[in-house]
Amino acid sequence: MPQKTNVTPYGSENSKKEQVAEMFNNIAAQYDFLNHFLSLGIDRIWRRKTIQSLAAIQPQAILDVATGTADLALEALKLQPKRIVGIDISKDMLAKGQEKIKPYADVISLQLGDSENLPFHEADFDAVTVAFGVRNFENLEKGLSEMYRVLRKGGRVAILEFSRPHNFPVKQIFNFYFKNILPTIGKFVSKDNRAYTYLPESVAVFPEGKDFCDILLNIGFKNIQCKTLTFGISTLYIADK
Ligand SMILES: C[S@@+](CC[C@H](N)C(=O)[O-])C[C@H]1O[C@@H](n2cnc3c(N)ncnc32)[C@H](O)[C@@H]1O
Repeated sequence: MPQKTNVTPYGSENSKKEQVAEMFNNIAAQYDFLNHFLSLGIDRIWRRKTIQSLAAIQPQAILDVATGTADLALEALKLQPKRIVGIDISKDMLAKGQEKIKPYADVISLQLGDSENLPFHEADFDAVTVAFGVRNFENLEKGLSEMYRVLRKGGRVAILEFSRPHNFPVKQIFNFYFKNILPTIGKFVSKDNRAYTYLPESVAVFPEGKDFCDILLNIGFKNIQCKTLTFGISTLYIADK
């Protein structure tokens, strides 16, 4: 299934990337609260599983792409690596992250940058992670290719992204929640009219399961695993270079 690219946060003339950065700058102050509140804290379990999937390769250098407020970068500390780098295009999300990583500044560093043009050398990292980021890329294949490039041979990528539950009654209940309740609360708390409407819209058109695995395969990844989490509300993709 080819990726549809017509879902953007504001539908304005700006590029998707500019709109995404603007949207996350707008909601940065409320992002963490809404994340945990709207997911009933389940997002923490998903991030834990994402990092656990890297344990077997004991990565020493980890890149967290689309790091936002650095929750996944902080979770990666559990692997006791020497270095964790987080990169994001939203300066306000990073500012929130900077506050949170202060006690761990000897290991974690955050920087402004684009996942589709990573400012790192080939094979700089043992592992690359991304949580709820790839769906927002302007050019998905470019972003994934960049992740592949900066991984060392034998390195591992762990990608956490929303997907769509397919079975009754979870599908029906979740769809109602995701399309009605979540946007209403999200709009009220964040004061951004679009951010929490863009969320279900972008999930609805994003490749999931085998479609996403096929994209990873085309890029060159191997040993691709696809693990659905919490009835398929999210999926964890793990793959090696
Ligand atoms: C839903 S947030 C996820 C943040 C964090 N990974 C987490 O688990 O909470 C998506 C993040 O992706 C970032 N992002 C989107 N496109 C990006 C790109 N091309 N390069 C870097 N960051 C990007 C946004 O700025 C935003 O902070």
